[in-house]
Amino acid sequence: MSLLIINIKSLIQVRNQNVLKVSGEEMKHLPTIENAFLYIENDKIVDYGNMENCKNIKVSKTIDASGKIVMPTWCDSHTHIVYAGNREQEFVDRIKGLSYTEIANRGGGILNSAKTLQNTSEDDLYQQSIQRIKNVIKLGTGALEIKSGYGLTVESELKMLRVIKRIKEHYPLKIKATFLGAHAFPESYLKDKQGYIDLIINKMLPKIANENLADFIDVFCEKGYFSLDDTDAILTAGKQYGLILKIHVNQFNAFGGVALGVKHNALSVDHLEELNQDDIDALKGSDTMPVALPSCSYFLSIPYTPARQIIDSGLPLALATDYNPGSTPSGNMNFVVSTACIKMKMTPEEAINAATINGAYAMGISNEYGSITKGKIANLIITKPVPSYNYLPYSFGENNIETVIINGEVIT
Ligand code: NIG
Ligand code: FE
Repeated sequence: MSLLIINIKSLIQVRNQNVLKVSGEEMKHLPTIENAFLYIENDKIVDYGNMENCKNIKVSKTIDASGKIVMPTWCDSHTHIVYAGNREQEFVDRIKGLSYTEIANRGGGILNSAKTLQNTSEDDLYQQSIQRIKNVIKLGTGALEIKSGYGLTVESELKMLRVIKRIKEHYPLKIKATFLGAHAFPESYLKDKQGYIDLIINKMLPKIANENLADFIDVFCEKGYFSLDDTDAILTAGKQYGLILKIHVNQFNAFGGVALGVKHNALSVDHLEELNQDDIDALKGSDTMPVALPSCSYFLSIPYTPARQIIDSGLPLALATDYNPGSTPSGNMNFVVSTACIKMKMTPEEAINAATINGAYAMGISNEYGSITKGKIANLIITKPVPSYNYLPYSFGENNIETVIINGEVIT
């Protein structure tokens, strides 16, 4: 199979060198070729350039992208897309004045979703989840991280991870699986927190490693959830099983979780709505990617991650959805990019870099995804005719996507 896209108005995020992430000032630059062509063989990007250099070669299919932008698909490095049911009642409760924390303390929140998921069959959970998967592909997502963490028992955590595995086998987008057994303490362990940590370390982790069900391990490091010591113990154990580390950190409180993540060489530290100078200093010089989740801030009306402070300190930043039933019931990366520009004062160049190449880095896949580079996987968005790439975040809420290509194949 070969595919040639011609007359592209702007081919954006073109990286001749295989850049793995962009930081600070570099994020302001979005390399673009105007009036371009892009040539794909099977699932790989083989060539691109200005239309003047487009050779008249024989191809299986040609797409004329006059007036349109071609770019890499979104790389969404933080989701909880596998879940059962919804929590729209809590949404209404919050409108009426309860906070996210108050709802969680009443047995709502993560424990509410866990109860529903425990009573949902693996098959039903798969069926519910693939509706969301199909939807995010249409919205231009071509690589996705998915977490467990609504199981909170050995059996149900495995159920979630097996569903993720099944999605991986049946859908063409790139998937990375994360074990998040440390998402909340289940009700039965509220008086024996160490007992649940032992269950994660001694029962869940060995089984997950044995079935090869996870790439990453994550912990919700937060007051009322997992302390620094708990997080340290769980990440240390995860590392021993060869898992790569991530943390949910600084969502509501800053108390040293970022430095702990960096100490463990975590691939990413995610949320960061509450960030102080010590956190910024800890990230400097590290390989850890800070990840902001603006749709979560929008939905919960909590502060936005201080993107300007992060980028102006020379650090990289990735953007992801956090798609989950409680704090972010949306997997729309287009909205994330718009919101990052509108609310976090990121420029369109910075936001698009954060949602493609840096998102790929936060999944450990930026050698193959996240930019238009020869040899990378051909996961592409072709937009509708638009005046410029600035129009994508500007026209928030509008669907500008016309075609999604995954592994070199036109999907929608
Ligand atoms: O990333 N903060 C922890 N976990 C999720 C929300 C979980 C939920 O409310 O169901 C998050 O926002
Ligand atoms: Fe999350």
